[in-house]
Amino acid sequence: MFLHNCWYMAGWSRDFSAEKPVAATILNEPIVIYRQSDGSPVALQDRCCHRFAPLSLGRVEGDDLRCMYHGMRFAASGRCVEIPGQPKIPPHARVRSYPIADRHSGVWIWMGDSALADESLIPEFVGIEDPRWAMKPGRMDYNANYVLINDNLLDLSHIPFLHNRSLGAALTPEGVSRPTVTKIPRGVRIQNWIIGEPSHMIPSIANRKTNIWQAYEFLVPGVFLLHADFYPFGTTDAFPDREPSGVEPLHRQFTCQAVTPLTEDRSCYFFGYGPWAKEAGLIEAFYQLGLKAFNEDRVMIEAQQKNIHRFGDEKMMTVALDAGISQFHRIMDEMIRAEARGGAAGTEERQQA
Ligand code: FES
Ligand SMILES: [Fe+2]
Repeated sequence: MFLHNCWYMAGWSRDFSAEKPVAATILNEPIVIYRQSDGSPVALQDRCCHRFAPLSLGRVEGDDLRCMYHGMRFAASGRCVEIPGQPKIPPHARVRSYPIADRHSGVWIWMGDSALADESLIPEFVGIEDPRWAMKPGRMDYNANYVLINDNLLDLSHIPFLHNRSLGAALTPEGVSRPTVTKIPRGVRIQNWIIGEPSHMIPSIANRKTNIWQAYEFLVPGVFLLHADFYPFGTTDAFPDREPSGVEPLHRQFTCQAVTPLTEDRSCYFFGYGPWAKEAGLIEAFYQLGLKAFNEDRVMIEAQQKNIHRFGDEKMMTVALDAGISQFHRIMDEMIRAEARGGAAGTEERQQA
């Protein structure tokens, strides 16, 4: 079950050029993406209307894309503008064109009804070019349904266990307080305090315990934005259940991530992870740490997916840790149901309420 009337990250902006069309599968649909001469991105169905050759094997010519099987040429609108050897072009000579936009270091594609595509609904992603952070772009493909990846990000209680040799190496399960989950427009906000042990990777906190204020937003359809601010140990006493104010953090880090379903069983995971700009020298160390940790997630989630296939009819159990997952599922389920009823407008009103 996919939500179509929303923007999905199709790739990092730097992945697309006017030189070479790129093939992508999103929500089971074959898509080709290229850039026009002014740099603006174009997304077309990756299937020529003539003999179904992939247009991603074609050639960008000016603002158009030419199929390199028999040479039909398509404009960014999807309309065929040239058929070799045939002066008259019938109106049905066209392929589907998808709304697409560059925003926040990424290229975002609208997979539903084009008439409903509203660029103000592109998630408030914070991309790798944001000057506050030092991040490199990453991508990882999963043999798993996107919901399992979303669920993993909606419950970070797995960090001290699954990531006990990477992200969780400086944490103990007892040092992680129960998160609060708050509903926000088109998503949830999850916040909690964590006790951090000294981290030798980060010079600013190499020799001291810290209190980490961890706060993240998880937004439709699968956007994850997490801040972790490291404060002197004891800061929680003054701010037991909220973000500290008037206290300078010792260290800050951030991660932006986006999950895009490719098919029911395959998903794509885009990530950036890094320290604040004043410790930009750690950019590569953070990237490698992220890569290690996200691979740990991938191995577990792909194994989980196999078990789900094996025991498909059996119900999973829910525990208190799953509050964020349950809230986000309710939001997505309601939007998917509204879409099935015919349109996104009603959904938007309900989500804002
Ligand atoms: S398949 Fe594209 S022109 Fe023939
Ligand atoms: Fe994880």
